Amino acid sequence: MMRAPFRFSRNAVAEELSFPTPGTRHLAFDPVAFADGAPSQALRGQFPQLQFSSLGGAWTSGSLKGADVLLVAVDGASPVDVDGLCINLRESGRADQVVICLTNADLATTRRLIREGAADVLPAPVSEPALAATLERIVGRLETAAPLPAASGQVVSFLKAGGGVGSTALAVQVAAILADNGRGPRVCVVDLDVQFGSAAMYLDVQDSITIGQVLSTHGELSEMGFASALRPHASGARILGAPAEFVPLDALTPNVVDALVSALKRDFDIILLDLPTAWTAWTYRALRQSTRIVLVSQLTVPHAHLIRRQLNLIETQRLEDIPITLVCNRCGGDNPTGVSLRSVAGAVGRPFDVTVPDERKLMNEAINQGVALSTLRRGSKLEKALVQLGELIAPKAATAKPNRGN
Ligand SMILES: Nc1ncnc2c1ncn2[C@@H]1O[C@H](COP(=O)(O)OP(=O)(O)O)[C@@H](O)[C@H]1O
Ligand SMILES: [Mg+2]
Repeated sequence: MMRAPFRFSRNAVAEELSFPTPGTRHLAFDPVAFADGAPSQALRGQFPQLQFSSLGGAWTSGSLKGADVLLVAVDGASPVDVDGLCINLRESGRADQVVICLTNADLATTRRLIREGAADVLPAPVSEPALAATLERIVGRLETAAPLPAASGQVVSFLKAGGGVGSTALAVQVAAILADNGRGPRVCVVDLDVQFGSAAMYLDVQDSITIGQVLSTHGELSEMGFASALRPHASGARILGAPAEFVPLDALTPNVVDALVSALKRDFDIILLDLPTAWTAWTYRALRQSTRIVLVSQLTVPHAHLIRRQLNLIETQRLEDIPITLVCNRCGGDNPTGVSLRSVAGAVGRPFDVTVPDERKLMNEAINQGVALSTLRRGSKLEKALVQLGELIAPKAATAKPNRGN
């Protein structure tokens, strides 16, 4: 059968801006906001506690890109741009940290942006004394605000191109590698595949609390204390498993997922979310809170189409600012599929970041015994590929740990 060739048009994966100096506040600006394309030395001098970085262009998503204050520009004469900005303000959840520089300013647009919660709306080109007064106010507010919870864990979502590609097996094994027998960061895998999830079974920690208990708290999760409530696996990793009984996908809600992720971020350094194949009402909330999406697939033509579908969905959901790690599981080794990595990468429009070999015997033994791969065999190709994935997920945590074991 002839298959129509397909192309994937965009591969826009914008990294967070990097703000290397700890202990400072960060302001990211759209160069268009300033008459000279950048803030003057005088303005910078006035705010030594602020680090200024260019956004490099317009603000295209609801992410603050790691900044504390955003200075964005919009043309009031373009209803489409104003609508897009309003959506970004809402999605950011932090409109009060966004200052808007408005070209073709008019009262109706200004009022609309203020109603959306923007910190301030200044006519373009921005007057630096007016901007300074606004920044003074925002920085003052940030300084007096209640300090953020101490631990601020990193969230990584595992999405799959179709069921059964191995995303749960990879997530739990990467978690075991990162946890490094308790010597590594505090890692938790959360099985949000609430109907078919088997993460807890894969590491045999089934007597811990599950998402079922989370649901019964009705979102009041602040007192849950996951680090002590979840029994660690021998690898040090913890698993918040799917409920043992059947629950509908919409038993979880965007608010519960938000509260759950916030609570977990206080207790763990790295949180791996294992998401169901189906997109739910709360998938967006889980992904929006993620610093990375790991998209797991296999090396077949149907899977290539499913990757493209997932990438398209990520883009239409305005999540394309989150870095994506594309993983090809079960490729090579025992599992020849007759399709080359290069042809799938060409069709998808981007290469795979990690390829994981098919090692059925080792993976099945690990799952059946509920152990980390290294417990059965050290230095397998499978484990090496997952160490590589771990290094991409958590660069600092995964370095210099070649030998683990129990
Ligand atoms: N790299 C691999 N080599 C061999 N078998 C694998 C590999 N990764 C996963 N599997 C197997 O694939 C099956 C499905 O994996 P699972 O993680 O449950 O998929 P998903 O969570 O994506 O639905 C499991 O039986 C697992 O043992
Ligand atoms: Mg699964």
